[in-house]
Amino acid sequence: MPRDPRADAYPMPAYPHGWYAVLRSGELRRDAVVSLHYFGRALIAFRDADGRAAVRDAHCPHYGAHLGVGGKLVDGTVQCPFHGWRFGPDGRCVEAPFAPRIPKVSIGGFPVREHSGLVFVYAGPGEPAWEVPEIPETLSRRFAKPIDDACRARIHIQEMRENIVDESHFQFIHGQREPLVQDWQADGPLAEARGRISRRIFGRDIDNSFDAFMYGPGVMVVRTQGPVVSLTAVALTTPVDERTSEMRMLYYIRKPRRLPFLTPCLKLAFRAEALGEVRDEVRIWDHKIHQPRPVLLPHEKGIRTLRRWYEQFYSPDFAAAPGPTPAAPPCAEHGRNVGD
Ligand code: FES
Ligand SMILES: [Fe+2]
Repeated sequence: MPRDPRADAYPMPAYPHGWYAVLRSGELRRDAVVSLHYFGRALIAFRDADGRAAVRDAHCPHYGAHLGVGGKLVDGTVQCPFHGWRFGPDGRCVEAPFAPRIPKVSIGGFPVREHSGLVFVYAGPGEPAWEVPEIPETLSRRFAKPIDDACRARIHIQEMRENIVDESHFQFIHGQREPLVQDWQADGPLAEARGRISRRIFGRDIDNSFDAFMYGPGVMVVRTQGPVVSLTAVALTTPVDERTSEMRMLYYIRKPRRLPFLTPCLKLAFRAEALGEVRDEVRIWDHKIHQPRPVLLPHEKGIRTLRRWYEQFYSPDFAAAPGPTPAAPPCAEHGRNVGD
């Protein structure tokens, strides 16, 4: 179906500033350079000699080679495949073969944190003023290994987040009996929406409560509790470029205390029920347009509330200048190695 050009038009900048998860920790081995593409930029990720993660721009300042295409890790630095210049985790050039002295150049990059089994980057102007807290379920034995479901859609990431406060769609897409009820609280870049969901699963009506904790524009943790299954969904939304956004969902199912062997069955049932609903949403997102002034019913005011909260993450500085950022320590107090 041809795309209406309005489906790619947004009044807000493409890249809200905040923390975004770009990798799961296990995807960043200690011996390889990983190529990524987010925020309309070619990026690389690697680990320094101490195992700390770094995420930098991919192109070499010398002559433009892509450091993720044939680049090697040498003592925790990335060696360019073309003429052997090497760059440290802070982006600085540390070696240039045959140069009389090492050129004072560096590759741009992002402040990085690693915790909860995820590598986060801060995309925005300056240094981050807030942090994403650890997500205890990601390391707890009471929860099964996550169901990992990633997809990309032609939609702005703000609209992916609006989904959680779009109370009416829960009936049509997610099989609720009626629009869910929500309370909203915000504190700067953090916000929380609490509510109740009632849905039919395998022919039975099940009541669940949920708490959605939002940590800036790109990270949300939704804890759902109910009589059949309790689950924590980590929703990671990251801009790929000006037209495309990625949504990676990590679903951590709590193992039933008395019947832990049922966990694989729960996972199978969850996959069968929930993942198709996400695909239905992606199909809608791919073609929907942004309505700056949607016609909202009285119970749909959450969309307006979320939009007001989300406005704080737009910065003309970052949207206009996706160039190098000042070098920063790649990992602070949260640093964690893959094998920890
Ligand atoms: S292009 Fe990278 S060292 Fe020359
Ligand atoms: Fe939804």
